[in-house]
Order: sequence, then C-alpha cells, then structure tokens
Amino acid sequence: MEPPRPKSESIAVIGAGIAGLITAHTLLRDGFSNVTILTRDLVVGGVWATDRIYPGLHTNNVHGEYRFSSLAMPAAGGVGARLTGDDMANYLEAFASKFLQGKIEFGVEVSNIRRSSTGGGWQMDIYDRASDEYKTRTYARLVVCTGGCSMPRMPARLNPDTAAAAHFKGLVFHSMDFGRKLQDLMDSVPRCDSAPTHESAPIVIIGGGKSAQDISAYVANEGRKVVVVCPRLDAFTAGRKPLPDFVRKSRLTALFSPHIHLRTGLERLLHTTWLGKKLVDFVWHGLEESSYEAFDIPKASPLRNAVSPYWHCSINDEGIARSNGFHALAASGQVEVITPAHAVCFSDDGRSVVLDNGQVLDASAVVLATGYASSWTSLFKEKTIDELGLNPHPAQNDTEHRWDYTTLSDPPALRPETKAWSSSIYRGLVPAKSIDNRDFAVNGACVSPNNGYTAEVASHWISSYFLGDEMRLPRTPAEAFAETERVAAWLKRRHPEVPTALNPSHTGHMAFWTWPQHVDDLLEDMGLPIMRSGGNALTWPFKTIDLDEIKNLKIERDERRAKLIARAS
Ligand SMILES: Cc1cc2nc3c(=O)[nH]c(=O)nc-3n(C[C@H](O)[C@H](O)[C@H](O)COP(=O)(O)OP(=O)(O)OC[C@H]3O[C@@H](n4cnc5c(N)ncnc54)[C@H](O)[C@@H]3O)c2cc1C
Ligand SMILES: *[C@@H]1O[C@H](CO)[C@@H](O)[C@H](O)[C@H]1NC(C)=O
Ligand SMILES: *[C@@H]1O[C@H](CO)[C@@H](O)[C@H](O)[C@H]1NC(C)=O
Repeated sequence: MEPPRPKSESIAVIGAGIAGLITAHTLLRDGFSNVTILTRDLVVGGVWATDRIYPGLHTNNVHGEYRFSSLAMPAAGGVGARLTGDDMANYLEAFASKFLQGKIEFGVEVSNIRRSSTGGGWQMDIYDRASDEYKTRTYARLVVCTGGCSMPRMPARLNPDTAAAAHFKGLVFHSMDFGRKLQDLMDSVPRCDSAPTHESAPIVIIGGGKSAQDISAYVANEGRKVVVVCPRLDAFTAGRKPLPDFVRKSRLTALFSPHIHLRTGLERLLHTTWLGKKLVDFVWHGLEESSYEAFDIPKASPLRNAVSPYWHCSINDEGIARSNGFHALAASGQVEVITPAHAVCFSDDGRSVVLDNGQVLDASAVVLATGYASSWTSLFKEKTIDELGLNPHPAQNDTEHRWDYTTLSDPPALRPETKAWSSSIYRGLVPAKSIDNRDFAVNGACVSPNNGYTAEVASHWISSYFLGDEMRLPRTPAEAFAETERVAAWLKRRHPEVPTALNPSHTGHMAFWTWPQHVDDLLEDMGLPIMRSGGNALTWPFKTIDLDEIKNLKIERDERRAKLIARAS
C-alpha cells in the first residue's frame, strides 16, 4: 500500500448544496486541514438556496427526512408533514454557519478543470463575481458536488430566445427561475376572475415532474388559470392519513424492491419466488391505487398517465392528500392537464404554443419545467472528461449478467437512450478509470429519496478513500470498470425507462427504493456494520431508520483504522 498522502494537501469541494456541505464537513473532521468549498452562488444550499426556493416548494422525500446526523432538524410543521423550501434553506444555512465558517468561497464560478501540467493536482479557472476577475487555482484533490439540478435543459424550439424570435408576448423561463420571476409572473398574468383580456389566457407549464406539479398548484392557488402539458406525469404516493413510521421511515419499501444482490432470506423469498412476486405486485399495486384514491382520481383520468412507482424513480411523496395540492386541483379541473402530449414550438401569433397533437394553446406565459442537464460539461475540458473517464460510455453488450428475479419479469420497454449508455462511475463516486488516483471523487450524483443520509455516508467513503484507508475497492481500473458495467446492466434491468446518461451528474448512480441497500454496500466497503436500524430476522423491515445510527461513523472508522494498524505492526 502507498504511504498516505499528507492531510495538509489542499482539497477543493465544488458546490455548496447538500452534497458539498456534508463532504467538506466530513473531510474537515477527518483532519484534512486545507478544505475549501467553491460555489458560484452567494449563499449555501444549491437547489435549496434562499434565492432559489419558492413558495409551494416542498421536499418529496418518501422517508420524510432530509438532514445530516450532526445537526437535528426541526420537525416539519407544514402540510402533510413535508418539509418546505424554507425549512431546507434554514437548515442548510444553520449547518454551514455551525460547521463551515470561513471555509466557503462564494460567488466563484469554476470552469476548465484540467490536470496540472506542473507538479500534480488540479488546475482550474475561477471567475470571481465580486471583483469581476479571472484567476487560476491549483488544488491537490477535488470533490465535485455540483449536482444535477443547476443547468436547465430546455428544448431549443421552446427556449426564451426562440420565444423572443417568435415575438411571443408573455414571460418564458425555466422552472429553476420560478422563485426569481414569480413576482413578474403574478404582475403580468391577471387572476382569472378579473378582466377577460387575452392576458387571462392560461400560464402553460411544460413538463410533468415535481417542479411542474408544485408550480402549477402554486399559480392555481394564486387564482391564475394554468395548463400542464406533458408526455407523462411523475408518480406519487399519498394517503388520507399519515403513514406510521414503521412503514414510511423503515426499510419496508426497500425490502419490496429488488437490489443487485439480495442479502437476506426475506429478500430472496420476495424477489426470486412465484409467491414473492405475487406479494410484491400486490404491495405496489396497493400503494399506487391507494394514492390515486386518496385524491379520488377516477380510473380513466389522464392523471393516471404516470410513470410506474415500482420501475421508475420519479416518485414524489405527497404525504397526506391536501385539497390545495396538484392532484386535488387537477382532479377538480382547477389545473388543466393535457397528457400525453408534447409542446412543440411557439406559433407565429405571438400568444400561443403548438402541441404535437395539433392543438394550439393560448398562453399568457410559459414555464419550462423540462428538467436539467449535467453540470459537468461546463466544468471540465472535454479532454479532462476523457482522461478522468467521467462521462457515460457506450454500453457493452454483455449478456453474462442475469438476475433471475421473478420481480423483474414483465418490465416496461427498455428505452433506447437507456440501453445505449452506461455510467462510468464506480459506486456513483469515482470514475472507474481513475480509481487508482485517490485524488478525485463525486458526491451527490446518486438519486436517493433520503439524500441527507446517502450523501453523508458517501462523504465518509470519499474521505476514507482519500485517506488511503483499507477498504473493499477494485484493485485496478479494469476491475472497477467491469463492476461499473455490471451495475449499469443491473440498472437497465431495474429502471428500463430511466435514461441515466441524459444527466450523469444527477444519475451517475441510482439507489431509489433500495437506498438502504446501497448505503449498506458503502458501509461494507468501509468494513463497518450494516443494517443499522436493527431488529431480528423478522422485525428488521419495520425498524425506523434514523440518522443517529450513522452519527459515530467517524469514530468507528478511526477505531477500525487503529486496529488494522496495530495488527499490521
Ligand atoms: C425544484 C427541485 C426540487 C427538488 N426536490 C427534491 C426533493 O424533494 N427531494 C430530493 O431528494 N431531491 C430533490 N431535488 C433534487 C436535488 O438535486 C437534491 O435535493 C439536492 O438538493 C442536490 O444537492 P447537491 O448538493 O447535489 O446539488 P445542488 O443543490 O444543485 O448544489 C450544486 C452546487 O454547485 C454549485 N455549482 C454548480 N456549478 C458550479 C460551477 N461551475 N462553479 C461553482 N459552483 C458551481 C452551485 O452553486 C451549488 O452550490 C430537487 C431538485 C429541484 C430542482
Ligand atoms: C490551501 O490551498 C490553496 C490552494 O492550493 C493554497 O493557495 C493555500 O496556500 C493553501 N493554504 C495553506 C494554509 O496551506
Ligand atoms: C445483446 O446481443 C444479443 C445477441 O446479439 C441481443 O439479442 C440482445 O438484444 C443484445 N442486448 C443488448 C442490451 O444490446
């Protein structure tokens, strides 16, 4: 084993969202002395920054939690016990001011990251907003935490420039700017009970995901006419009553979702037998059905044109069915939903949008809730992306990998974009090609419905990896690549409709319902106990998962390291 590199070596953590904050915190606690967070924003929080959140924004985390173990979060007081954007922004600001004073550089945009030609480490260009200056910096190590939700993706024929060229009269902006444009939008679109000018045409929202749902509900509640146009809606879970913690905050949903390997007898029973499949189907069907019923959504309603909560990972937790939430408003017609349909372009009358079904929709404004592109393309030179092995690679047709799970029979069709590409990032944390270098990692590129928990465990994994701790790691890049390819093949089976390559900085790895199993994989890599919520062979699925169970990870890692060193000498 190589001697450990000095802890005084500089580390840049790029991004001050949840992934960047917890990564820097863990590295500092582990004794790395020169850790700096760089963010182009003026405040912490990323997606949850005070200048980005908007009224009506809630977390959709099925586990109902979104925090780190070292700081308690006030219980969600709001509707359906979901956290609001404000709750999140306040929490992340409190976290940064408690643990990261003086460690964050704000207003600095990073680009052109490349390997340093002299010495080692990473060189990058930094544009400093305050002084309007460009600088070059060098850091020995890098953790990229720029997330997958900061680079808007907009169809070329619908973006604001195209709208201007088509002389479209209303506001057109991406959902990312909703908070900043909200006042202008409310000023320019009158309430539908006031004068029937052409401005009282609806606000058209393009997209069916969480942003489209939150935003359309918000503007409808503000008395504006609104139409949502989308090929399909995100799935959701909801109930008339809150689910008890032993269901919602336990490993129960994880048990009913297959993982790449099945650790327990219960999982093997459920996912590899005929009876197991019956049970699993019954549970998911029940969850889907009871969620629709919570909002009285009829069988034939277009609101049921949604992704499958079992196969997909665009599922939002609504908590308790609220009468002012998207599904209630849509079911009662206060939000009109046109689906399946794509918006194609602006028409030349300057006041409408054309759909692929031929419909021409009057629009007073257009919100593009069309999702996000990878944040990595603007950070790196193409050459560096290749050297690192950061981007997805064309999938190898390796028919060796099979999972004879009964619960993977009858999947939806494999999307061509899903089939064609595979993630190149081992565990969603380090590009397989660069696994030997121990000077580069990514945090936050794994989809998880308990992001605080997964990002925290990942931060320990990254810190151990930088420290040179003894871990379960592939011995060579080729071995890392083979494992990454196997995982990619698995994800194509498990989530055939999710095109991970479209935004690798968000879906470098996916651990949706099975996030507890994924966390166990990371803990095992570090040689630490797994299945921390406890219980015996029958009760473990019902034990509540709590952030407290990982609050001593640093101490556990220190003790293990000391033991291994003592044994070796
Ligand atoms: C509207 C919305 C709602 C969401 N709701 C949920 C939810 O309810 N539950 C959930 O689990 N997930 C949700 N997500 C997904 C979201 O990705 C995660 O919740 C999480 O916030 C991501 O954190 P992150 O730290 O990885 O990235 P981000 O929060 O996006 O942080 C990225 C950071 O990188 C910085 N950055 C980016 N590029 C550069 C650059 N070139 N130079 C310098 N700095 C840079 C940014 O300034 C920012 O500080 C939502 C996303 C959106 C957009
Ligand atoms: C920390 O790292 C930065 C970037 O490489 C460097 O400019 C700075 O001098 C370092 N600080 C210390 C105290 O070593
Ligand atoms: C792999 O190749 C086999 C045989 O040519 C083919 O039937 C199968 O569809 C291919 N699979 C993928 C994922 O490309």
